[in-house]
Amino acid sequence: MAKIKSVYVCQACGGMSAKWQGQCPNCEAWNSMEETVEDKPSTNRFQSLAKAAPKQRLAVIEAEDLPRISTGVDEFDRVLGGGLVTGGVALIGGDPGVGKSTLLLQAAARLAEQGRAVAYISGEEASDQVRLRAQRLGLGRAPVQLGAATSVRDILTTLSAGTPPALAIIDSIQTMHSDLIEGAPGTVSQVRASAQELIRFAKERGTAIVLVGHVTKDGAIAGPRVLEHMVDTVLSFEGERSHQYRILRAIKNRFGAVNEIGVFAMTEKGLKGVSNPSAIFLSQHAEPVPGSCVLVTLEGTRPLLVEIQALLDMGGPSPRRLSVGLERDRLAMLLAVLHRHAGVACMDQDVFVNAVGGVRISEPAADLAVLLAIHSSLRNKPFARGVVAFGEVGLAGEVRPAPRGQERLKEAAKLGFSTALVPAANAPKKPIEGLRIVPVSRVEDAMAWARE
Ligand code: TYD
Ligand code: MG
Repeated sequence: MAKIKSVYVCQACGGMSAKWQGQCPNCEAWNSMEETVEDKPSTNRFQSLAKAAPKQRLAVIEAEDLPRISTGVDEFDRVLGGGLVTGGVALIGGDPGVGKSTLLLQAAARLAEQGRAVAYISGEEASDQVRLRAQRLGLGRAPVQLGAATSVRDILTTLSAGTPPALAIIDSIQTMHSDLIEGAPGTVSQVRASAQELIRFAKERGTAIVLVGHVTKDGAIAGPRVLEHMVDTVLSFEGERSHQYRILRAIKNRFGAVNEIGVFAMTEKGLKGVSNPSAIFLSQHAEPVPGSCVLVTLEGTRPLLVEIQALLDMGGPSPRRLSVGLERDRLAMLLAVLHRHAGVACMDQDVFVNAVGGVRISEPAADLAVLLAIHSSLRNKPFARGVVAFGEVGLAGEVRPAPRGQERLKEAAKLGFSTALVPAANAPKKPIEGLRIVPVSRVEDAMAWARE
């Protein structure tokens, strides 16, 4: 009998070790190594007899050749780079309850209505539950093949019978189980093996597959980063459950741009695409309030106007710096720049900043708006109505230009804003109708303007 070899696999990063260790030698996580029987001899015995792959000539492929399937959910197609690619595998991650299953069910139904074969396999809900949800969404009549299964072998056998479907949705990869290796579903090695089998099927049969992945507390797609390397596209579905809006973002895309986003609103009839999202992240104040500044940010190809709010309050001996939707490290840096270069001290203040509407902003062009909001809260004086700002702030106190300044300014003008604080290098050569431009090249200029 062949010897059964066991290895220890880190559940956090997928790193392997021949012996058990308290700390993963790869990612240094504690208590994450679990024993796994890597190869079950019974299924692998004949592997060496498998015929060698036939040698193939390298084909010349052009990008336009990619056969795309439009899902009929425009915002989803946009993020995918124009639709699903046959044989492409996408992973979609997001917090529980953000709407992953809802989005995919809607896409599946739209495709099925176009006459394509679509399979929706749920490892989390019974088929009846999925059907009820489809009915509630008004999609009950779409001919989607629903299945509740967790065994990858069963799923692949079913999908291979007859013509393979154009799209198969696996909800979620953490519930899937491959009998090629041992271990409970959800462990790194199971997730990896299940995904490998599904990906092989997709490539061989031309079925597009979308895998749902759970995310961990810190927002990584659960456990296996390895999964992100294996699939063609990684999407992240973001949004606060308490807010209406959701953003679908491409993090990796072998078939399209990664900076594209899709915006959805969660309604009682499911997710609705928001085709013109620029003004949804503004709160409606009757009167201008202190501590608020509107930022023109750029998400993918679309400018968005987002209200940045700041609140400064007398803090204790070690004041807090907290941010929601913005990076906290960057906030600490900005406060230091504000002090050193503009003489505005907030050392004794708790500082809270927030991007309205549950958006997450990662671009440094938010800096100027953050500083203006902080300054306004500190002095308890609001800006006049109609002010927007953008620009990156450097450690030397300089205000650096942001990409595609013209587009941002045009969008602000279109939405009725009247004054824009912009990096001097972004000041337009031709005036933009209805918009007064205040070019600033240093933080102190911006603060001097704010004091007036
Ligand atoms: P779901 O798609 O199950 O989330 P995930 O698969 O990412 O865990 O979404 C569930 C949430 O969406 C749930 O909290 C209720 C809400 N929802 C609506 O508001 N309207 C709807 O039509 C549906 C189907 C769900
Ligand atoms: Mg779900």
